[in-house]
Amino acid sequence: MEKIAKKKLFTALIVIICFIFFVFYSYLRNIHFRGLDFIVYANFTINQAFTATSVLSIFISYNLSTLSKYENKLAKKYISYKRYFGLSGFYFIILHIFFGFRIISQEVLPQFFLEDSIISSLGKIIIILGIFAFLLFLFPAISSMLEFRKKLKHNKWLILQRIGYLGFFIALIHASLIGYQEWLTPEKWWGSLPPISLICVILILFTLILRLSALIIKSK
Ligand code: HEM
Repeated sequence: MEKIAKKKLFTALIVIICFIFFVFYSYLRNIHFRGLDFIVYANFTINQAFTATSVLSIFISYNLSTLSKYENKLAKKYISYKRYFGLSGFYFIILHIFFGFRIISQEVLPQFFLEDSIISSLGKIIIILGIFAFLLFLFPAISSMLEFRKKLKHNKWLILQRIGYLGFFIALIHASLIGYQEWLTPEKWWGSLPPISLICVILILFTLILRLSALIIKSK
């Protein structure tokens, strides 16, 4: 029991450090270098930190699992942390959604709107993809909670866990539609700092490609 508490504490510490880093990163990029008004863009700035922390936590969780299949020593040593990082990522997704809905306005996210304050088709698609990704993440998150885990057969539990990869894939499209235009103009990146959407997409792509290659190697 004491061991579990220590693992949870260690995970929480890492996740909080990541969150503080991303708050600082997002503040530097959006407020300091880009010059956005902090009063108007406070939720936007903090939301980017929630998003990046959620993606990084899920990235750690899934890659611990895949790399341990590759017999990676470090991943095997920390594989028991998979569940805690995964759940932390899910809690940060909930924060992202809560703040995400609050920042959807013409002033903060003009790319979601037509000129007359009506939400555009692209804006609607982005939001629907976000909701869909969240629904898919519910499967691994709920099945990771102890009461459910005990009741499930291992095979069923594995299938539910893997639905999260599909959620990650949908989140990749969600984030790409939001940020892709900015990615192609590095000379315009504020403070030469890459957009958080690009960082998230790279983390997600790495996770999905590593997982796919593990599957291909296994099937040979
Ligand atoms: C109801 C569901 C969701 C809503 C309403 C929503 C809303 C938003 C909004 C408004 C943005 C733009 C913020 C910005 O430009 O900084 C955004 C970005 C993003 N969202 Fe979501 N989202 C949802 C679900 C998800 C889920 C489940 C994930 C999975 C981790 C996710 C990952 C991302 C990523 C990676 C970005 C780009 C990074 C960023 O710019 O903050 N979203 N989302």
